[in-house]
Amino acid sequence: MRIVVTRRISEAALVELRALGEVWVSEADRPLEPEELGKAVAGADAVVSMLHDRIDASVAEAAGPQLRIVANVAVGYDNIDVPALAERGVHVTNTPGVLTDATADLAFGLLLALTRRIAEGDRLLRARQPWSFHLGFMLGSGLQGKTMGIVGAGQIGRAVGRRAEAFGMRVVYSGRSDPKEELLRTADVVSLHCPLTPETRHLIDADALATMKHTAFLINTTRGPVVDESALADALLANEIAGAGLDVFEHEPEVEPRLLELDNVVLTPHLGSATVETRTEMALLAARNVEAVLTGGEPVNPVHS
Ligand code: DGY
Repeated sequence: MRIVVTRRISEAALVELRALGEVWVSEADRPLEPEELGKAVAGADAVVSMLHDRIDASVAEAAGPQLRIVANVAVGYDNIDVPALAERGVHVTNTPGVLTDATADLAFGLLLALTRRIAEGDRLLRARQPWSFHLGFMLGSGLQGKTMGIVGAGQIGRAVGRRAEAFGMRVVYSGRSDPKEELLRTADVVSLHCPLTPETRHLIDADALATMKHTAFLINTTRGPVVDESALADALLANEIAGAGLDVFEHEPEVEPRLLELDNVVLTPHLGSATVETRTEMALLAARNVEAVLTGGEPVNPVHS
């Protein structure tokens, strides 16, 4: 069996994969270019992919008819053309569950950094700006008694909801593709937890942003294109909303330059699941899916088109 891993993963997962066959791991410290990916997968029975790999019919063709599984090391799988792979009898799997708490923690971390001006305060001190304590200095917004609007009531959305309740917030949920005008109109925080699909692309556009309260904060830890980033910069500059915490970007790894200039924006480089424990679990889960399929069983975490 030939197993291709498109970017370094934990050693524990590699040990499991090596027990199944010959494992090739990209040593490049960057995503593989489409051409490199095509060459790398040739002859693969299994591909362990990352969210930045575009896996479509051409990649399946480049791999060959023996390809059995593409195991994405992510809960999101918008980078994979699932129907094209299903047509060729290739299983697609993801890594749900193991990153729920890590991602919810990061969403809440962004929210606190934003509402309590933690990142801004840190920048102020590092810039060696003069300051002194006074009662009106760098006031933020409290969360208690406020409304948390969660778009996408899946595992991560509900985990954020539990954290919000612990902070004394009222929590309202809306479905994946319809951010319910009512939620946008009333929420003090809008946190996005829906997958990226054709229906959710630019779900938060200029109209949605205009519907939000002027005092509301937007948190995005799902996928960048769920938000129209240029419309978001416009809305922030026009004070249509109070701030944004973003872990994901529309044209990742690029960030809309206007967002980099704003103090009421907190940015992290797609760190939602980035803990040692979680990333190890994600890789192990991908390896278990590969093992299940290559040994003739059913995948543990199949995704369907
Ligand atoms: C995912 O799993 O989809 C995250 O974006 C990265 O862990």
